Amino acid sequence: MNAYLELNFGKSFTGKTARMLWELREEGRIILADPKCAQLVDLKNWDHLWPVYDSEENVWMGKDFVDYFRKRQNCRFRAMVHFRTHFSQQLNLLCRLSMGIKNLALAVDEMGLFIPSGSVNSLPPSITAAAISGRHEFIKFTGTAQLPSLVHFVVRSNAERIRWFRLTEKNALDVARLHMDENFVQEVANLPNYVCVETSDFALPFRDESLVGKIKILAKKPSSAHYS
Ligand SMILES: Nc1ncnc2c1ncn2[C@@H]1O[C@H](COP(=O)(O)OP(=O)(O)OP(=O)(O)O)[C@@H](O)[C@H]1O
Ligand SMILES: [Mg+2]
Repeated sequence: MNAYLELNFGKSFTGKTARMLWELREEGRIILADPKCAQLVDLKNWDHLWPVYDSEENVWMGKDFVDYFRKRQNCRFRAMVHFRTHFSQQLNLLCRLSMGIKNLALAVDEMGLFIPSGSVNSLPPSITAAAISGRHEFIKFTGTAQLPSLVHFVVRSNAERIRWFRLTEKNALDVARLHMDENFVQEVANLPNYVCVETSDFALPFRDESLVGKIKILAKKPSSAHYS
């Protein structure tokens, strides 16, 4: 991953999470936030952490979870943090923790699931802060979302690279239109799985089908994403 802020948008099963993992393959220090607790729970070569959240105190119970990171201030780690409840609050804490640890890549799968119900078009402030100001703490930020409108426009417009997998909803395509010309928007609406249009600060938009059939990190499990 050679950008500080990357995003991957697209409908379910288009290959966003697999691509995000692929892009992280050479990162030495990674925290990945998993709100789905399905396809990622038994991924090999990761430390799987299941923090227990105390909603009254807004803290994690026990010392083990935070100690894991305290012991890894200067070494390599790949931590997959699984959240089952209170997504927004826990990601808030995780972003704060990451800003303290520094020098890492913070990956957030299904960013839409972390949005408090009722709010539209807005990530919790701490995620926005980690994504925008994280680079000052040497935090690279990457994430996936099925709908680009669920990611705050400030984060989107600061992204150095966005991979647009297939999107078909009008609102989603309207967001894409802000980043590419109409020909590419039509292309995004018709992309096959695992193919994306990449927009970035580094190059003109282009269609990327280079990894089709080449990413075999994830098991073929049905998606359990939901936005209730
Ligand atoms: N480039 C690829 N080549 C072959 N298989 C792929 C590729 N990318 C993803 N897959 C497979 O396709 C399936 C869906 O991929 P993935 O879970 O990344 O989709 P997703 O867009 O994150 O879906 P969701 O929004 O439901 O989480 C997985 O089984 C994955 O291994
Ligand atoms: Mg996914």
